[in-house]
Amino acid sequence: MSAAEQRSAAEAPVGVARLLAGVRADGRPVSAHEHLRLYGLLQPPGPELISQLQSSGLRGRGGGAFPAGDKLAAVAAQHRRPVIVVNATEGEPASSKDRALLRLVPHLVLDGAAAVASALGARKVIVAVAEGRAAGERSVLTAALKERRERLDWQIASITDGFVAGEETALINTLNGKAGKPSVKPPYPFERGVGGAPTLVQNAETLAHVALIARFGSRWFRSLGTEAEPGTALVTVSGVVARPGVYEIELGMRVSELLLQAGGATEPLSASLVGGYFGGWTRDPNHRLTAAAGLGAGVVVAFPANACGVRESARVTRFLADESAGQCGPCVHGLAALASGLEQVAHAQGRDQRDRLERWASQVTARGACRHPDGVSRFVLSTLEAFEDEFTLHLRKGRCSGRDRIVLPTGRAGR
Ligand SMILES: Cc1cc2nc3c(=O)[nH]c(=O)nc-3n(C[C@H](O)[C@H](O)[C@H](O)COP(=O)(O)O)c2cc1C
Ligand code: SF4
Repeated sequence: MSAAEQRSAAEAPVGVARLLAGVRADGRPVSAHEHLRLYGLLQPPGPELISQLQSSGLRGRGGGAFPAGDKLAAVAAQHRRPVIVVNATEGEPASSKDRALLRLVPHLVLDGAAAVASALGARKVIVAVAEGRAAGERSVLTAALKERRERLDWQIASITDGFVAGEETALINTLNGKAGKPSVKPPYPFERGVGGAPTLVQNAETLAHVALIARFGSRWFRSLGTEAEPGTALVTVSGVVARPGVYEIELGMRVSELLLQAGGATEPLSASLVGGYFGGWTRDPNHRLTAAAGLGAGVVVAFPANACGVRESARVTRFLADESAGQCGPCVHGLAALASGLEQVAHAQGRDQRDRLERWASQVTARGACRHPDGVSRFVLSTLEAFEDEFTLHLRKGRCSGRDRIVLPTGRAGR
């Protein structure tokens, strides 16, 4: 560790609350002044930020867990002036962590964006938020941007709400004035993105971590978490817990520990959904929360034992099928078939669909322009495994012991 790093590490947050260390009790956004008092000034970094991020081991928090430093290096290798896109669209209905960051600690996200812009020589930074879901966050962002001094061309872009709208190529297409649908890669955003320029698309939480790594160093970042997945992560906890909300955890924490932190389960649980709708179910309270174990974009839903996991999963699969951007055959037809198959089992019509569902799920994987079908396939396969006994009851008796109770949000009216 360099002398500068040692000095700044002494001022760094010491507990697990790093991103959320300064959150105000009244829920109002932390001002630029308060932010500076807590974390200190961030000198605009040069290209050395890239190797610092590489040695920090920071992985993207938007779901794909791609190493952040490597992505910056890919953009830098283009040797053209890039554009920075902050992905705060957060299309996952069970997630609210990116909006929480913008609403509560906007300067942390903006610092991270300014830091990568400085390291890569970018002048333009676009913060993309969902039109309807993030209406409140937009005004907080506008006020926060007025407090900043960087000579950057900041823009706030409102993106149509939707599960697929935040996929990076869909986002770039929207920003380029085209339909917000994913396109086939290559070219990757780091090669050709907004206005044809190399584009760094980074999740809002990832950039908030960058803001702290640029200040306090990679050793400090690695002092929490696991060797393979260092640091902390934000997780949105919902379902039947006493205090649903956004929590900052040390990566590698057990599901049971997180649920306790959220006030504990208010009812007996049958399973927890980890990673949201591209993630999977677990019945193991000792399941560790890491990207490798499916944490995805940071979602945990505590699912009550008296709800029907088969029906709920069928309802979510139908939602995900309807959210397909409608341009790749295996995604359009495959996801609709998966939803219908699950619905048939859930409502006990016809024969056992499990073998077919498994086959279809594996057939849609890696067959779309984006990873939407892969995520849905993972969710369906995990449903078949976690709720195997319930499936058998459905087929035998037409129902299981669970009630028809809505637990998983889809963002649709009344559901
Ligand atoms: C269907 C789909 C939806 C996505 N939605 C989001 C989203 O809402 N927010 C987000 O940050 N990333 C989303 N992603 C991931 C982005 O494509 C991209 O990988 C991410 O923004 C990169 O940031 P990160 O490396 O910091 O995680 C989505 C990916 C897919 C396949
Ligand atoms: S895989 Fe599905 S969501 Fe992705 S681009 Fe193709 S049709 Fe759209």
